[in-house]
Amino acid sequence: MRTLRFLLFSLWLQKPWRLLLDMLWDAGMSFSGAGARLAALKAKGLSLSGFRCSRDVFVSSGAIVSLPTQGSIHIGPETFVGRQAYFDNHARIEIGEGCLIGGFVRFLTATHDVETFELACRPVRVGPFCWIGANVTILPGVTIGKGCIIGAGSVVTRDIPDWSIAYGVPCQPRRERPRPIRQRTATGREVMLHD
Ligand SMILES: CC(C)(COP(=O)(O)OP(=O)(O)OC[C@H]1O[C@@H](n2cnc3c(N)ncnc32)[C@H](O)[C@@H]1OP(=O)(O)O)[C@@H](O)C(=O)NCCC(=O)NCCS
Repeated sequence: MRTLRFLLFSLWLQKPWRLLLDMLWDAGMSFSGAGARLAALKAKGLSLSGFRCSRDVFVSSGAIVSLPTQGSIHIGPETFVGRQAYFDNHARIEIGEGCLIGGFVRFLTATHDVETFELACRPVRVGPFCWIGANVTILPGVTIGKGCIIGAGSVVTRDIPDWSIAYGVPCQPRRERPRPIRQRTATGREVMLHD
């Protein structure tokens, strides 16, 4: 089963039609009409290779999944993942609904014991309605709470509480987002967020 999934994954990565879908989307499609159908088609393809995508998920071009057969990657509805995301698939990666994930974000689920170099794998969770800026690195075992904003270039080493605006290296909560919050998901749907 693992070998089959690996083969499917490799095929999926190489397929020219995946490149075509990526190019079409990158050319400016959105989650409406043909864009929504395109996103659904791509999500279906990704499901064959270990992703669990809910409805209206789009993973942009260049995504890399290490070890496609190891962990599991769950992406909630109406979530958009920017270009060249890196999913280190040693343990579960969970991204909630309505999130915007910027380009070049790295989800790391494995580290090494600093004395023995033994591998330690821990899941990563991103709560619903978060915005993760470009080029963020999320370390193993971290949970980012509901409705957080993580600034570009941050390295997230510890859990981030719900509703935080956090940034820096290491990433620290700087202030709280006042509620209620009115924001849009990747599909353009307006949501009202309360505690
Ligand atoms: C985190 C962010 C949302 C904060 O926005 P903001 O609250 O309007 O912040 P401000 O611009 O008022 O900056 C406040 C302070 O934080 C610092 N700061 C802001 N973003 C930072 C970041 N990502 N890393 C480190 N410091 C940051 C600013 O330098 C400023 O410091 P100062 O008070 O010493 O001058 C924004 O800066 C950011 O990183 N956006 C992500 C952009 C991105 O990734 N775009 C790709 C599309 S998904």
